[in-house]
Amino acid sequence: MKKVLVTGGAGFIGSHTCVELAAAGFEPVIVDDLRNSQERAIDGIGRIMGRKPSVHRIDCCDAGAMRRMLATEGPIHGAIHFAADKAVGESVNDPLKYYHNNIGSLVLLLRLMKEHGTQRIVFSSSCTVYGQPEKLPVTESAPDRNAMSPYGFTKIACEQMLRDTTSSDPALKAVLLRYFNPVGAHPSAHIGELPLGVPNNLVPFVTQTAAGLRKQLTVFGTDYDTPDGSCIRDYIHVVDLAKAHVRALEWMEGEGASSCEVFNIGTGKGNSVLEVINAFTGETGAPLPYVIGPRRAGDTTAVYADTTK
Ligand code: UFG
Repeated sequence: MKKVLVTGGAGFIGSHTCVELAAAGFEPVIVDDLRNSQERAIDGIGRIMGRKPSVHRIDCCDAGAMRRMLATEGPIHGAIHFAADKAVGESVNDPLKYYHNNIGSLVLLLRLMKEHGTQRIVFSSSCTVYGQPEKLPVTESAPDRNAMSPYGFTKIACEQMLRDTTSSDPALKAVLLRYFNPVGAHPSAHIGELPLGVPNNLVPFVTQTAAGLRKQLTVFGTDYDTPDGSCIRDYIHVVDLAKAHVRALEWMEGEGASSCEVFNIGTGKGNSVLEVINAFTGETGAPLPYVIGPRRAGDTTAVYADTTK
């Protein structure tokens, strides 16, 4: 079986991707130090796969540990690089953490891939690179905006790093996936979204409030220029997003694949925060206490994907 290195493989998107890789006949090799995920995510992956995945509990900025991991694993067909910090507010207060972990880890991974002869990489990018787009739905050719946070800047910088490295090394191929807002969980419920601490993102906050773990949800602003005043995002099921990584790897194996390509991964449909809340309560019947609060710094009014490409 072709081995695929999955950094951040115990995280929300990473864990779902490991499962889809295994279902498509690849062998996921997880690198994750569990700093923002839990052991039980790995147990859940194993239960769905029907066998224990290969796991290395190491920091993917640790060159020595990464080199030893590659020496143990042998040939690696491709890498999927999820490992990164993603709390926008924290990145404003501690930018060096984001530059070190998000940019440093990709520099090291690309160096080690070259040493090891691994020629395919799928990178977790984000619609954050668009800022507030002028035209919606947003296409991949929309210009990058000035980053709205150090986190956003790390995504723009890593995309550029991959454009530069693929043009300097004809053997290397990269696919940059610009995620919109991933939500949901594997239908088995063995894995899902389980951030440590207080969630930053809407849907885990919704589910934890409905489960009684949090007192109430705050809607960050209803004075935006949208039909109901709350922000609009493109919410994509995490299993669909996970499958996009498998397709990206397969696409790079094909003849016509360019050396570096970018794809939006969304549904093409925008929904407001209030619509998400109403959809959740409508489906589950669970009470979801919420209050309307002020805007959150750095939020864009509306973003959803053009999925034509
Ligand atoms: N929201 C609330 N209340 C909450 C949490 C969120 O009203 O408690 C609103 C936000 O204001 C926003 C929408 O729900 O309008 C979605 O917010 P998320 O935090 O779930 O996601 P973002 O659209 O802000 O996503 C951004 C970047 C992603 C990045 C992510 C990481 O666009 O690239 O933050 O936190 F991965």
